[in-house]
Amino acid sequence: ISLQPYNSFGIAVQARFFAEILEEADLKALFQHELVRTQKILVIGGGSNVLFTEDFNGLVIKISIKGISVNAGTEKILVTAGAGEVWNDFVTYCVTHHYAGVENLSLIPGTVGASPIQNIGAYGVELKDVFESCTAFEMGTGLIKTFSYADCHFGYRESIFKNELKGQYIITAVTFRLSAEAEINTSYGAIEAELEKRGIANPNIADVSAAVSHIRVSKLPDPVTIGNAGSFFKNPVIEKYEFADIVAKHPDMVHYPTGDGKVKLAAGWLIEQCGWKGKVVGNTGTWKNQALVLVNHGGASGKEVFDFSAQIIDSVKSTFGVTLEREVNIL
Ligand code: EPU
Repeated sequence: ISLQPYNSFGIAVQARFFAEILEEADLKALFQHELVRTQKILVIGGGSNVLFTEDFNGLVIKISIKGISVNAGTEKILVTAGAGEVWNDFVTYCVTHHYAGVENLSLIPGTVGASPIQNIGAYGVELKDVFESCTAFEMGTGLIKTFSYADCHFGYRESIFKNELKGQYIITAVTFRLSAEAEINTSYGAIEAELEKRGIANPNIADVSAAVSHIRVSKLPDPVTIGNAGSFFKNPVIEKYEFADIVAKHPDMVHYPTGDGKVKLAAGWLIEQCGWKGKVVGNTGTWKNQALVLVNHGGASGKEVFDFSAQIIDSVKSTFGVTLEREVNIL
């Protein structure tokens, strides 16, 4: 089966076996099958954070478990969504029902089930800020386990599911801790500017969602027309002393304090400074409005995109001495 419709980069590769899971019981049934013992397994949601560099010679399991349920307390509203819900549909549901907390995360591609794995984040909010718990199918035992916030070891684009527990669990549902009382977060300059342009002084969550969506659409390529997986690299976090050396040579370098005495750099800025912004190389390149996003201009192979990313890493390393790390999963 072709995986082209199942990865937002639009890379044309094949999977040997493919299963789509519509409910938790399907997982239990699938894991009775001998295929799961003889084949290597890849679990996908929206396929929006992966780059296939070759055919997948194994079983791809696509999670499409749907459903949203609400448990409204006096202070907090707990909303549970099936792993297969499209992330932005879930955000829209929350904004429409006046459940505040995820509006800054509007229009992020992918599914609810993938959101804790890399602790998705944008415009001043991370998944971990609203995460209550998740349930996950343990592949080794067939049991469903619950993970609390503390269990997940969230970090910048990190969680236990990418590290110690990698490849062991399939997230089936996520519960979010939202609130009726909106704590509007427009700390991110771009949102503030967009709201000001719209003449909105006291934004509600629908205003924030609309502003964020507008910014994303104007900066980021739509994967439906131009294959991509969002930010291809992470923003590098470096030590203060390393930062002091670099900033001495590049005084206008974009940077943010991380709170733990380190400094986060803007990978998009570093890549742009090296002259890569908007560059087209073969069928791939970087996006004209956001150098951190690598794109498939049509017909790119995963290897081509990967090799291009290696060129960028080398270039940023030799100019700034900083090593970019890929954020997208390479397969
Ligand atoms: N910049 C440049 N040139 C570029 C791109 C960015 O100079 O080509 C500068 C910008 O001017 C700005 C800074 O870099 O000063 C940061 O840029 P931006 O606000 O676009 O955010 P980012 O750090 O590049 C991160 C996330 C995005 C998220 C945005 C908004 C990562 C790896 N990426 O990007 O997440 O949407 O912040 O909060 O942390 C994703 O993970 O796929 C993703 C899109």
